Order: sequence, then C-alpha cells, then structure tokens
Amino acid sequence: MASTDILDAEHRTGRIKVHKPEDFEGMRRAGRLAAECLDMLVPHVVPGAVTDDLDRMAREFILDHGALPACLGYRGYTKTLCISPNHIVCHGIPGERSLREGDIANIDVTVIVDGWHGDTSRMYGVGQIAPRAKRLVEVTYEALERGLAAVKPGATTGDIGHAIQSYVESMRCSVVRDFCGHGVGRVFHDAPNILHFGQRGTGEVLKPGMFFTIEPMVNLGKHPVKLLADGWTAVTRDKSLSAQCEHSVGVTEAAYEVFTVSPAGLFKPPLQSA
Ligand code: MF3
Ligand code: CO
Ligand code: CO
Repeated sequence: MASTDILDAEHRTGRIKVHKPEDFEGMRRAGRLAAECLDMLVPHVVPGAVTDDLDRMAREFILDHGALPACLGYRGYTKTLCISPNHIVCHGIPGERSLREGDIANIDVTVIVDGWHGDTSRMYGVGQIAPRAKRLVEVTYEALERGLAAVKPGATTGDIGHAIQSYVESMRCSVVRDFCGHGVGRVFHDAPNILHFGQRGTGEVLKPGMFFTIEPMVNLGKHPVKLLADGWTAVTRDKSLSAQCEHSVGVTEAAYEVFTVSPAGLFKPPLQSA
C-alpha cells in the first residue's frame, strides 16, 4: 500500500487514468501472475520457514515467468515481497526471521507483466492459530468484500472507505489510517488514494476503466501505527495484531472486475484454530 503522505507529496498530475477496454487484458495477466505467486507460496508458509527463503522463491517464480518484481529497487526497497507477521501492519522486510506456529502473516507481492502492475496480498496462518487471530483475519476479508461491493460507476472512493470502516468498527476492530489503496496500472502507485475509512459520497467519482487497489489493514486494538527505524516496517502502536488483504480491481460498466483472483481458490486461507 501507499503511505498517504507519500502519495500526497508525489501525486503526479493527480489525474485519474481511465483505461481502454484492451488495457483490462494487461491487468488480467499481471493480476493472475501475482495471485499465482502467492498460491505457489502456500505450502512453504509453515513453522520454521525463513522469510528470506520465501522472498527468494517469489523472486525466482516471477523472473521465471518473464515478469519483474515491482518492489525490488522501488524507493530503495531491496526485496520482492513484504512479509508482515502479527503486529506488523505492512511493509515487513523479509530476512533471517522465521515464521512460528501460531503466527498470522500478510504476504504482499507486486509483479510487472508487459508494463502492467498486479498488486495483491493475503493472510497466511502458520500452523494452529488463536481464535482471536482467526476472527481478525475473517473480519479483514469481509472488510475487503464490503469495499468491493461498493465499487460501481457513479459511486465514490468515500463509499468504499465508508463500507469498510463501518463494518470493521461494528466488529470492534479498527482501520489503519496511515496507508491506503491506490490507483494502479502502468504506474505502481497512482491517483486516486483509496482510503479505507470515510464518508459516503465524498472523494472521487468512479468511472469505467479506473484501476485501483483496495487493501484494508485492520487492527484488533487501536488504529495508530509507528514506523520502525528501518524506514519501512509499520507496526501497531499498541502491539495489537493486525491483518490485511489486497486486490487490484478495474471499474466496469456493470460494477468491477478483480484482476488478482487466485486461480487455485487460495485467496482466503483455510485457518486452523484451537
Ligand atoms: N505492494 C505494496 C502495496 O500494496 C507496496 C510495497 S512497496 C515496497 O502497495 F517497496 F515496500 F515494497
Ligand atoms: Co497496493
Ligand atoms: Co501490495
């Protein structure tokens, strides 16, 4: 996801691209490969898995498919994946750290296929997880579904944020404010910002051909986050658990198309809880 500050500072023209019907095919190919990369990782996300090994597997998978890892070298980032376990909200950097039984971890990947960016993330449960962790993950997936259901021509970005925030807060969880979804396409992080909170009828009006991500970050505790000294890793201030999932989507005449559907049906993890 994009930091809301970075997006405001950099925001190109601020104009939202409206893509042509043939551009959808480019996004389908990029989105499918990104989803296949996350599918490939599923059997490897087990207790003891070293996060750097997962990163290497993803990088090789992407390169073997003739695509590029978008994060590698992006604003100085040196990995292919972001791996964010437990109280890490987003942008966890793969390294020597290994995953442990009971962790919940978000893995986020962006691939570039013929210039088009496919950006998706999902949650993985490592072995048996606690019931409250399972509930958080379920709330986060439902939040994304509610956001998607608000996407159609004539609706606004605020309708998406409102749908997500009102649901998440009704479940006694909180929505992270400091990072947002973003326009996507030939550019990785473009206009518009897709805030995961807000008011109905505010923001930008959606039109067929707009491409963007929806990627809510949901905390079991309060919403504030802090950035670690590495300049990337964002964690919950209150150390509460955090979860996220992300799709890249296009607005169609009818409503929307999800570009990052898992061909194997693995977007939502089967979670084992005690
Ligand atoms: N994939 C993330 C997103 O959803 C961005 C990660 S940028 C990185 O937008 F540099 F941290 F990889
Ligand atoms: Co994103
Ligand atoms: Co992403």
